[in-house]
Amino acid sequence: MASETPPPATPFRPPAPYPAPGQRAGLLHGLKTLRSQIEGLPPDVFEADAWRPPLPGMPLFVMLPDAIQRIVLTEADQFPFGALFERIMRPVWGKGLLLSKGSDWRTQRRAAAQAFRAADMAALAPFFVTATERALSRWRQVPGGQIDAFDEMKRITFDVILDTMLSGAETFDREGFRRQVKAFFADVNRMRLSYFLRPDAYHERRSSVVSRHRAGLEASLRDLIRLRRMSASRGDLLDLLMAARDPETGDGFSDELLADNLLGFILAGHETTAVALTWTLYLVSAHAPTRERLRAEAEAVIGDSDVSPAHLPRLGFARQVVSEALRLYPPAFLLTRISARDTEICGHRVRAGERVNIPVYAIHRRPSVWSNPHVFDPDRFSAQGRQPGRFEYMPFGGGPRICIGAALAMAEAVTVIVTLLRAADFTPPSPDRVWPQTGLALYPRHGMSMTVRFRPR
Ligand code: HEM
Repeated sequence: MASETPPPATPFRPPAPYPAPGQRAGLLHGLKTLRSQIEGLPPDVFEADAWRPPLPGMPLFVMLPDAIQRIVLTEADQFPFGALFERIMRPVWGKGLLLSKGSDWRTQRRAAAQAFRAADMAALAPFFVTATERALSRWRQVPGGQIDAFDEMKRITFDVILDTMLSGAETFDREGFRRQVKAFFADVNRMRLSYFLRPDAYHERRSSVVSRHRAGLEASLRDLIRLRRMSASRGDLLDLLMAARDPETGDGFSDELLADNLLGFILAGHETTAVALTWTLYLVSAHAPTRERLRAEAEAVIGDSDVSPAHLPRLGFARQVVSEALRLYPPAFLLTRISARDTEICGHRVRAGERVNIPVYAIHRRPSVWSNPHVFDPDRFSAQGRQPGRFEYMPFGGGPRICIGAALAMAEAVTVIVTLLRAADFTPPSPDRVWPQTGLALYPRHGMSMTVRFRPR
Protein backbone atom coordinates (compact mmCIF):
# COMPACT_ATOMS: atom_id res chain seq x y z
CA MET A 1 0.00 0.00 0.00
CA ALA A 2 1.32 3.44 -0.94
CA SER A 3 2.33 5.60 1.99
CA GLU A 4 0.61 9.01 2.37
CA THR A 5 3.74 10.78 3.56
CA PRO A 6 6.76 11.05 1.28
CA PRO A 7 9.88 9.24 2.54
CA PRO A 8 12.26 11.55 4.38
CA ALA A 9 14.85 12.97 1.99
CA THR A 10 18.40 11.79 2.66
CA PRO A 11 20.40 14.65 4.15
CA PHE A 12 22.96 15.94 1.65
CA ARG A 13 26.23 17.18 3.17
CA PRO A 14 28.14 18.75 0.31
CA PRO A 15 31.94 18.53 0.54
CA ALA A 16 33.50 21.27 2.66
CA PRO A 17 35.92 21.55 5.59
CA TYR A 18 34.52 21.57 9.09
CA PRO A 19 36.11 20.42 12.33
CA ALA A 20 35.82 16.92 13.74
CA PRO A 21 34.25 16.89 17.23
CA GLY A 22 36.91 17.45 19.87
CA GLN A 23 39.51 18.69 17.35
CA ARG A 24 41.78 21.30 18.92
CA ALA A 25 43.65 24.18 17.39
CA GLY A 26 47.35 23.75 16.96
CA LEU A 27 50.17 23.82 14.52
CA LEU A 28 48.08 21.77 12.07
CA HIS A 29 45.56 24.59 11.91
CA GLY A 30 48.29 27.08 11.16
CA LEU A 31 49.78 24.95 8.39
CA LYS A 32 46.45 24.16 6.75
CA THR A 33 45.45 27.81 6.88
CA LEU A 34 48.44 28.68 4.73
CA ARG A 35 46.83 26.68 1.92
CA SER A 36 43.27 27.82 2.45
CA GLN A 37 41.92 30.14 5.12
CA ILE A 38 38.90 27.95 5.94
CA GLU A 39 40.96 24.78 6.28
CA GLY A 40 41.81 23.35 9.68
CA LEU A 41 39.66 25.84 11.60
CA PRO A 42 39.08 24.45 15.11
CA PRO A 43 35.58 23.98 16.62
CA ASP A 44 36.03 27.26 18.56
CA VAL A 45 35.60 29.28 15.35
CA PHE A 46 32.24 27.61 14.77
CA GLU A 47 31.06 27.54 18.38
CA ALA A 48 32.70 30.21 20.53
CA ASP A 49 31.85 33.93 20.66
CA ALA A 50 35.40 34.92 19.79
CA TRP A 51 38.70 33.09 19.39
CA ARG A 52 42.35 33.94 18.93
CA PRO A 53 44.76 31.38 17.38
CA PRO A 54 47.40 30.33 19.94
CA LEU A 55 50.26 31.96 18.04
CA PRO A 56 51.69 35.43 18.58
CA GLY A 57 50.36 38.32 16.49
CA MET A 58 47.25 36.54 15.22
CA PRO A 59 43.95 38.41 14.66
CA LEU A 60 40.90 37.89 16.84
CA PHE A 61 38.08 35.93 15.16
CA VAL A 62 34.68 37.35 16.18
CA MET A 63 31.53 35.26 15.80
CA LEU A 64 29.03 36.62 18.36
CA PRO A 65 26.27 38.50 16.45
CA ASP A 66 26.19 41.41 18.96
CA ALA A 67 29.95 41.86 18.70
CA ILE A 68 29.81 41.74 14.88
CA GLN A 69 27.06 44.36 14.96
CA ARG A 70 29.39 46.58 16.98
CA ILE A 71 32.26 46.14 14.49
CA VAL A 72 30.37 46.65 11.22
CA LEU A 73 27.49 48.88 12.34
CA THR A 74 27.34 50.67 15.67
CA GLU A 75 31.09 51.39 15.94
CA ALA A 76 31.91 51.03 12.24
CA ASP A 77 34.07 54.19 12.34
CA GLN A 78 36.30 52.54 14.95
CA PHE A 79 36.83 49.48 12.72
CA PRO A 80 38.04 50.62 9.28
CA PHE A 81 39.33 48.29 6.54
CA GLY A 82 42.99 48.88 7.32
CA ALA A 83 46.01 49.85 5.24
CA LEU A 84 46.73 46.35 3.92
CA PHE A 85 43.25 45.90 2.48
CA GLU A 86 43.46 49.35 0.92
CA ARG A 87 46.79 48.47 -0.65
CA ILE A 88 45.22 45.49 -2.49
CA MET A 89 42.04 47.25 -3.46
CA ARG A 90 43.37 50.71 -4.41
CA PRO A 91 44.50 49.73 -7.93
CA VAL A 92 41.00 48.42 -8.63
CA TRP A 93 38.86 51.03 -6.95
CA GLY A 94 40.91 54.22 -7.24
CA LYS A 95 38.75 56.98 -5.73
CA GLY A 96 35.60 54.83 -6.08
CA LEU A 97 33.06 53.68 -3.52
CA LEU A 98 34.83 50.91 -1.65
CA LEU A 99 37.82 52.89 -0.41
CA SER A 100 36.23 56.31 -0.08
CA LYS A 101 35.50 57.59 3.41
CA GLY A 102 33.35 60.08 5.32
CA SER A 103 31.23 62.51 3.32
CA ASP A 104 32.92 61.45 0.08
CA TRP A 105 31.74 57.84 0.64
CA ARG A 106 28.25 58.97 1.75
CA THR A 107 27.70 61.00 -1.43
CA GLN A 108 28.87 58.18 -3.70
CA ARG A 109 26.95 55.56 -1.75
CA ARG A 110 23.67 57.54 -1.80
CA ALA A 111 24.00 58.20 -5.52
CA ALA A 112 24.91 54.57 -6.34
CA ALA A 113 22.02 53.35 -4.16
CA GLN A 114 19.67 55.15 -6.59
CA ALA A 115 21.09 53.03 -9.41
CA PHE A 116 21.06 49.68 -7.60
CA ARG A 117 17.41 49.64 -6.43
CA ALA A 118 15.89 46.14 -6.29
CA ALA A 119 13.08 46.92 -8.77
CA ASP A 120 15.58 48.28 -11.29
CA MET A 121 17.76 45.21 -10.85
CA ALA A 122 14.81 42.87 -11.52
CA ALA A 123 14.15 44.90 -14.68
CA LEU A 124 17.55 43.72 -15.95
CA ALA A 125 16.23 40.11 -16.18
CA PRO A 126 16.20 40.13 -20.02
CA PHE A 127 19.96 40.89 -19.98
CA PHE A 128 20.54 37.91 -17.64
CA VAL A 129 18.45 35.64 -19.89
CA THR A 130 20.34 36.74 -23.03
CA ALA A 131 23.75 36.04 -21.45
CA THR A 132 22.55 32.60 -20.28
CA GLU A 133 21.05 31.73 -23.68
CA ARG A 134 24.35 32.69 -25.27
CA ALA A 135 26.14 30.21 -22.98
CA LEU A 136 23.59 27.46 -23.72
CA SER A 137 24.10 27.94 -27.48
CA ARG A 138 27.84 27.69 -26.95
CA TRP A 139 27.50 24.44 -25.01
CA ARG A 140 25.35 22.88 -27.74
CA GLN A 141 28.49 22.97 -29.90
CA VAL A 142 30.71 21.27 -27.29
CA PRO A 143 31.33 17.60 -28.17
CA GLY A 144 30.21 15.37 -25.26
CA GLY A 145 28.78 18.41 -23.45
CA GLN A 146 31.80 18.65 -21.14
CA ILE A 147 32.18 22.12 -19.59
CA ASP A 148 33.92 23.77 -16.68
CA ALA A 149 30.92 25.33 -15.01
CA PHE A 150 33.07 27.82 -13.06
CA ASP A 151 34.67 29.21 -16.22
CA GLU A 152 31.28 29.28 -17.88
CA MET A 153 29.56 31.09 -14.99
CA LYS A 154 32.34 33.70 -15.08
CA ARG A 155 31.65 34.13 -18.76
CA ILE A 156 27.92 34.60 -18.12
CA THR A 157 28.40 37.14 -15.33
CA PHE A 158 31.04 38.99 -17.34
CA ASP A 159 28.69 39.09 -20.34
CA VAL A 160 26.03 40.56 -18.06
CA ILE A 161 28.47 43.29 -17.05
CA LEU A 162 29.45 43.99 -20.63
CA ASP A 163 25.78 44.07 -21.67
CA THR A 164 24.47 46.12 -18.76
CA MET A 165 27.34 48.49 -18.10
CA LEU A 166 29.70 48.62 -21.02
CA SER A 167 27.71 48.21 -24.18
CA GLY A 168 26.25 50.72 -26.58
CA ALA A 169 29.33 51.79 -28.47
CA GLU A 170 29.99 50.05 -31.74
CA THR A 171 33.64 50.90 -31.58
CA PHE A 172 33.99 49.18 -28.20
CA ASP A 173 36.20 46.10 -28.47
CA ARG A 174 34.41 43.58 -26.20
CA GLU A 175 36.92 40.76 -26.51
CA GLY A 176 39.89 43.06 -26.13
CA PHE A 177 38.34 44.53 -22.99
CA ARG A 178 37.60 41.04 -21.62
CA ARG A 179 41.28 40.09 -22.09
CA GLN A 180 42.51 43.32 -20.48
CA VAL A 181 40.25 42.80 -17.45
CA LYS A 182 41.41 39.20 -17.07
CA ALA A 183 45.09 40.21 -17.12
CA PHE A 184 44.45 43.04 -14.68
CA PHE A 185 42.60 40.83 -12.16
CA ALA A 186 45.21 38.08 -12.44
CA ASP A 187 47.74 40.71 -11.37
CA VAL A 188 45.58 41.87 -8.49
CA ASN A 189 45.13 38.26 -7.37
CA ARG A 190 48.86 37.58 -7.47
CA MET A 191 49.44 40.66 -5.41
CA ARG A 192 47.09 39.27 -2.81
CA LEU A 193 48.69 35.83 -2.63
CA SER A 194 52.08 37.39 -2.16
CA TYR A 195 50.71 39.59 0.51
CA PHE A 196 52.01 38.01 3.65
CA LEU A 197 55.07 36.49 2.10
CA ARG A 198 56.90 39.21 0.21
CA PRO A 199 58.68 42.39 1.23
CA ASP A 200 57.21 45.82 0.58
CA ALA A 201 59.50 46.46 -2.39
CA TYR A 202 57.83 43.58 -4.24
CA HIS A 203 54.38 45.07 -3.73
CA GLU A 204 55.53 48.43 -4.98
CA ARG A 205 56.90 46.81 -8.12
CA ARG A 206 53.69 44.84 -8.69
CA SER A 207 51.56 47.90 -7.99
CA SER A 208 53.21 49.72 -10.84
CA VAL A 209 52.48 46.78 -13.19
CA VAL A 210 48.89 46.77 -12.02
CA SER A 211 48.67 50.52 -12.55
CA ARG A 212 49.97 50.15 -16.10
CA HIS A 213 47.23 47.64 -16.95
CA ARG A 214 44.75 49.83 -15.17
CA ALA A 215 45.60 52.89 -17.25
CA GLY A 216 44.56 51.05 -20.44
CA LEU A 217 41.27 49.89 -18.94
CA GLU A 218 40.51 53.30 -17.54
CA ALA A 219 41.11 54.93 -20.94
CA SER A 220 38.65 52.47 -22.60
CA LEU A 221 36.06 53.14 -19.91
CA ARG A 222 36.36 56.92 -20.20
CA ASP A 223 35.93 56.71 -23.99
CA LEU A 224 32.86 54.58 -23.51
CA ILE A 225 31.36 56.93 -20.93
CA ARG A 226 31.96 59.92 -23.22
CA LEU A 227 30.18 58.16 -26.10
CA ARG A 228 27.30 57.10 -23.86
CA ARG A 229 26.81 60.64 -22.54
CA MET A 230 26.07 61.66 -26.14
CA SER A 231 23.74 58.76 -27.03
CA ALA A 232 20.14 57.84 -26.16
CA SER A 233 19.30 55.98 -22.95
CA ARG A 234 19.37 52.15 -23.16
CA GLY A 235 17.77 51.47 -19.76
CA ASP A 236 20.85 49.60 -18.54
CA LEU A 237 22.99 49.90 -15.43
CA LEU A 238 25.36 52.48 -16.90
CA ASP A 239 22.37 54.72 -17.71
CA LEU A 240 21.16 54.33 -14.13
CA LEU A 241 24.60 55.22 -12.79
CA MET A 242 24.98 58.23 -15.11
CA ALA A 243 21.60 59.54 -13.99
CA ALA A 244 22.16 58.79 -10.28
CA ARG A 245 22.27 61.75 -7.88
CA ASP A 246 22.82 61.97 -4.16
CA PRO A 247 19.28 62.96 -3.04
CA GLU A 248 20.72 65.28 -0.38
CA THR A 249 23.40 67.16 -2.31
CA GLY A 250 22.25 66.58 -5.91
CA ASP A 251 25.82 65.48 -6.79
CA GLY A 252 26.25 62.79 -9.44
CA PHE A 253 29.32 60.86 -10.62
CA SER A 254 32.04 62.65 -12.60
CA ASP A 255 33.42 60.67 -15.56
CA GLU A 256 36.52 59.91 -13.51
CA LEU A 257 34.52 58.54 -10.59
CA LEU A 258 32.26 56.59 -12.93
CA ALA A 259 35.29 54.90 -14.51
CA ASP A 260 36.76 54.04 -11.07
CA ASN A 261 33.44 52.64 -9.88
CA LEU A 262 32.77 50.65 -13.05
CA LEU A 263 36.12 48.93 -12.66
CA GLY A 264 35.30 48.24 -9.01
CA PHE A 265 31.83 46.93 -9.82
CA ILE A 266 33.31 44.59 -12.43
CA LEU A 267 35.68 43.14 -9.84
CA ALA A 268 33.22 43.11 -6.92
CA GLY A 269 30.34 41.84 -9.00
CA HIS A 270 31.52 39.42 -11.60
CA GLU A 271 33.63 36.83 -9.80
CA THR A 272 31.52 36.79 -6.64
CA THR A 273 28.29 36.23 -8.56
CA ALA A 274 29.98 33.59 -10.76
CA VAL A 275 31.21 31.76 -7.67
CA ALA A 276 27.72 31.89 -6.12
CA LEU A 277 26.22 30.53 -9.34
CA THR A 278 28.80 27.74 -9.61
CA TRP A 279 28.08 26.48 -6.09
CA THR A 280 24.32 26.80 -6.62
CA LEU A 281 24.52 24.83 -9.86
CA TYR A 282 26.62 22.18 -8.16
CA LEU A 283 24.18 21.82 -5.25
CA VAL A 284 21.07 21.52 -7.42
CA SER A 285 22.79 19.11 -9.80
CA ALA A 286 23.89 16.90 -6.95
CA HIS A 287 20.51 16.99 -5.14
CA ALA A 288 17.68 15.70 -7.31
CA PRO A 289 14.77 16.58 -4.96
CA THR A 290 15.79 20.26 -4.93
CA ARG A 291 16.36 20.30 -8.67
CA GLU A 292 12.92 18.87 -9.37
CA ARG A 293 11.20 21.29 -6.96
CA LEU A 294 12.97 24.17 -8.63
CA ARG A 295 11.82 22.99 -12.05
CA ALA A 296 8.25 22.51 -10.83
CA GLU A 297 8.19 26.06 -9.47
CA ALA A 298 9.62 27.43 -12.73
CA GLU A 299 7.00 25.53 -14.73
CA ALA A 300 4.16 26.87 -12.58
CA VAL A 301 5.39 30.49 -12.55
CA ILE A 302 6.92 30.90 -16.00
CA GLY A 303 5.40 28.24 -18.22
CA ASP A 304 7.10 28.33 -21.61
CA SER A 305 8.27 31.93 -21.65
CA ASP A 306 11.60 33.42 -20.53
CA VAL A 307 12.16 34.64 -16.97
CA SER A 308 10.87 38.22 -16.86
CA PRO A 309 11.05 40.92 -14.15
CA ALA A 310 7.46 40.12 -13.12
CA HIS A 311 8.34 36.46 -12.46
CA LEU A 312 11.22 37.15 -10.09
CA PRO A 313 9.22 37.87 -6.91
CA ARG A 314 7.28 34.62 -7.48
CA LEU A 315 10.34 32.39 -7.82
CA GLY A 316 10.55 32.04 -4.04
CA PHE A 317 12.02 28.54 -3.91
CA ALA A 318 14.76 29.45 -6.42
CA ARG A 319 15.67 32.35 -4.14
CA GLN A 320 15.78 30.01 -1.13
CA VAL A 321 18.15 27.72 -3.02
CA VAL A 322 20.52 30.58 -3.87
CA SER A 323 20.36 31.81 -0.25
CA GLU A 324 21.28 28.33 1.01
CA ALA A 325 24.18 28.10 -1.48
CA LEU A 326 25.41 31.49 -0.19
CA ARG A 327 25.18 30.14 3.37
CA LEU A 328 27.24 26.99 2.69
CA TYR A 329 29.73 28.58 0.29
CA PRO A 330 29.76 32.34 0.96
CA PRO A 331 31.90 33.94 -1.79
CA ALA A 332 33.00 36.61 0.74
CA PHE A 333 34.02 33.98 3.29
CA LEU A 334 35.93 36.36 5.61
CA LEU A 335 35.50 40.05 6.39
CA THR A 336 38.37 41.87 8.06
CA ARG A 337 38.74 45.16 9.87
CA ILE A 338 41.41 46.92 11.93
CA SER A 339 40.69 48.25 15.41
CA ALA A 340 41.43 51.99 15.45
CA ARG A 341 41.93 52.01 19.24
CA ASP A 342 42.56 49.75 22.22
CA THR A 343 39.33 47.98 23.10
CA GLU A 344 37.80 44.75 24.37
CA ILE A 345 35.69 42.30 22.36
CA CYS A 346 34.02 39.32 24.03
CA GLY A 347 36.53 39.50 26.89
CA HIS A 348 39.58 39.64 24.57
CA ARG A 349 41.88 42.64 24.60
CA VAL A 350 42.36 44.16 21.15
CA ARG A 351 45.05 46.77 20.69
CA ALA A 352 44.92 49.71 18.28
CA GLY A 353 46.08 48.55 14.84
CA GLU A 354 45.21 44.87 15.42
CA ARG A 355 43.16 42.97 12.86
CA VAL A 356 39.77 41.46 13.69
CA ASN A 357 38.31 38.77 11.44
CA ILE A 358 34.64 38.00 10.87
CA PRO A 359 34.71 34.42 9.56
CA VAL A 360 31.46 34.40 7.55
CA TYR A 361 32.06 30.78 6.43
CA ALA A 362 32.10 29.51 10.04
CA ILE A 363 29.32 31.88 11.19
CA HIS A 364 27.06 30.33 8.55
CA ARG A 365 27.71 26.90 10.09
CA ARG A 366 27.28 27.80 13.76
CA PRO A 367 25.49 24.87 15.46
CA SER A 368 23.75 27.19 17.94
CA VAL A 369 22.06 29.00 15.03
CA TRP A 370 21.63 26.35 12.30
CA SER A 371 20.32 22.83 12.87
CA ASN A 372 22.41 20.28 10.94
CA PRO A 373 24.62 23.17 9.82
CA HIS A 374 26.57 21.25 7.18
CA VAL A 375 23.45 19.87 5.46
CA PHE A 376 22.06 21.50 2.30
CA ASP A 377 18.46 22.47 3.11
CA PRO A 378 16.89 25.39 1.20
CA ASP A 379 13.80 25.15 3.43
CA ARG A 380 15.74 26.95 6.14
CA PHE A 381 14.92 30.09 4.20
CA SER A 382 11.21 29.36 3.67
CA ALA A 383 8.69 31.77 5.18
CA GLN A 384 7.96 29.11 7.83
CA GLY A 385 11.65 28.66 8.74
CA ARG A 386 13.40 30.52 11.55
CA GLN A 387 14.74 33.66 9.87
CA PRO A 388 18.41 34.20 10.81
CA GLY A 389 19.40 37.45 12.47
CA ARG A 390 21.20 40.18 10.49
CA PHE A 391 24.59 39.18 11.88
CA GLU A 392 24.01 35.41 11.84
CA TYR A 393 23.70 35.25 8.05
CA MET A 394 25.73 37.80 6.17
CA PRO A 395 26.80 36.75 2.66
CA PHE A 396 26.58 40.41 1.66
CA GLY A 397 28.17 41.81 4.83
CA GLY A 398 26.28 44.20 7.11
CA GLY A 399 26.10 47.78 8.35
CA PRO A 400 26.72 50.84 6.17
CA ARG A 401 29.23 49.00 3.95
CA ILE A 402 26.77 46.20 3.12
CA CYS A 403 27.03 45.07 -0.50
CA ILE A 404 25.41 47.58 -2.82
CA GLY A 405 25.05 44.93 -5.53
CA ALA A 406 23.11 42.37 -3.43
CA ALA A 407 19.80 42.88 -5.27
CA LEU A 408 21.58 42.68 -8.62
CA ALA A 409 23.42 39.50 -7.61
CA MET A 410 20.25 37.80 -6.32
CA ALA A 411 18.14 38.75 -9.36
CA GLU A 412 20.92 37.57 -11.66
CA ALA A 413 21.57 34.29 -9.81
CA VAL A 414 17.86 33.35 -9.69
CA THR A 415 17.32 34.16 -13.38
CA VAL A 416 20.43 32.31 -14.55
CA ILE A 417 19.89 29.17 -12.46
CA VAL A 418 16.23 28.84 -13.46
CA THR A 419 17.05 29.40 -17.16
CA LEU A 420 19.83 26.80 -17.03
CA LEU A 421 17.83 24.11 -15.27
CA ARG A 422 14.88 24.43 -17.59
CA ALA A 423 17.15 23.88 -20.60
CA ALA A 424 19.47 21.14 -19.43
CA ASP A 425 20.59 18.51 -16.94
CA PHE A 426 24.03 18.92 -15.44
CA THR A 427 26.03 15.93 -14.18
CA PRO A 428 28.14 17.13 -11.25
CA PRO A 429 31.74 16.07 -10.65
CA SER A 430 32.37 13.24 -8.17
CA PRO A 431 32.50 14.50 -4.57
CA ASP A 432 36.29 14.02 -4.38
CA ARG A 433 36.63 16.72 -7.10
CA VAL A 434 34.53 19.25 -5.15
CA TRP A 435 36.22 21.41 -2.51
CA PRO A 436 36.12 25.11 -1.62
CA GLN A 437 39.39 27.05 -1.83
CA THR A 438 39.95 30.55 -0.52
CA GLY A 439 41.34 33.35 -2.69
CA LEU A 440 39.72 36.69 -3.47
CA ALA A 441 36.47 34.64 -3.16
CA LEU A 442 35.56 31.06 -2.15
CA TYR A 443 36.44 29.24 -5.39
CA PRO A 444 35.90 25.59 -6.32
CA ARG A 445 39.46 24.25 -5.91
CA HIS A 446 39.31 21.89 -8.90
CA GLY A 447 37.05 24.05 -11.06
CA MET A 448 33.63 22.49 -11.62
CA SER A 449 33.69 19.97 -14.42
CA MET A 450 30.15 19.06 -15.53
CA THR A 451 28.42 17.31 -18.40
CA VAL A 452 25.50 19.16 -19.98
CA ARG A 453 22.60 17.19 -21.49
CA PHE A 454 19.92 19.27 -23.15
CA ARG A 455 16.33 18.45 -22.23
CA PRO A 456 13.67 18.07 -24.90
CA ARG A 457 11.72 21.35 -25.23
C1 HEM B 1 26.95 36.97 -4.85
C2 HEM B 1 27.55 38.10 -5.18
C3 HEM B 1 28.16 39.07 -4.20
C4 HEM B 1 28.61 38.87 -2.92
C5 HEM B 1 28.63 37.55 -2.13
C6 HEM B 1 29.07 40.14 -2.41
C7 HEM B 1 29.56 40.35 -1.13
C8 HEM B 1 29.91 41.58 -0.61
C9 HEM B 1 30.28 41.81 0.76
C10 HEM B 1 30.39 40.75 1.85
C11 HEM B 1 30.54 43.15 0.91
C12 HEM B 1 30.97 43.86 2.20
C13 HEM B 1 32.45 43.76 2.41
C14 HEM B 1 32.91 44.16 3.81
O1 HEM B 1 32.08 44.64 4.61
O2 HEM B 1 34.10 43.99 4.10
C15 HEM B 1 30.35 43.76 -0.39
C16 HEM B 1 30.52 45.11 -0.65
C17 HEM B 1 30.35 45.64 -1.90
N1 HEM B 1 29.87 45.02 -3.02
FE1 HEM B 1 29.29 43.09 -3.21
N2 HEM B 1 28.91 41.08 -3.39
C18 HEM B 1 28.34 40.49 -4.49
C19 HEM B 1 27.98 41.10 -5.67
C20 HEM B 1 28.18 42.43 -5.96
C21 HEM B 1 27.80 43.07 -7.20
C22 HEM B 1 27.05 42.39 -8.35
C23 HEM B 1 28.23 44.36 -7.11
C24 HEM B 1 28.11 45.50 -8.09
C25 HEM B 1 27.91 45.41 -9.35
C26 HEM B 1 28.85 44.53 -5.81
C27 HEM B 1 29.40 45.71 -5.35
C28 HEM B 1 29.83 45.93 -4.05
C29 HEM B 1 30.32 47.22 -3.56
C30 HEM B 1 30.45 48.49 -4.37
C31 HEM B 1 30.65 47.05 -2.21
C32 HEM B 1 31.21 48.11 -1.27
C33 HEM B 1 30.08 48.96 -0.72
C34 HEM B 1 30.57 50.12 0.13
O3 HEM B 1 31.69 50.08 0.65
O4 HEM B 1 29.77 51.06 0.33
N3 HEM B 1 28.80 43.33 -5.16
N4 HEM B 1 29.94 42.79 -1.29
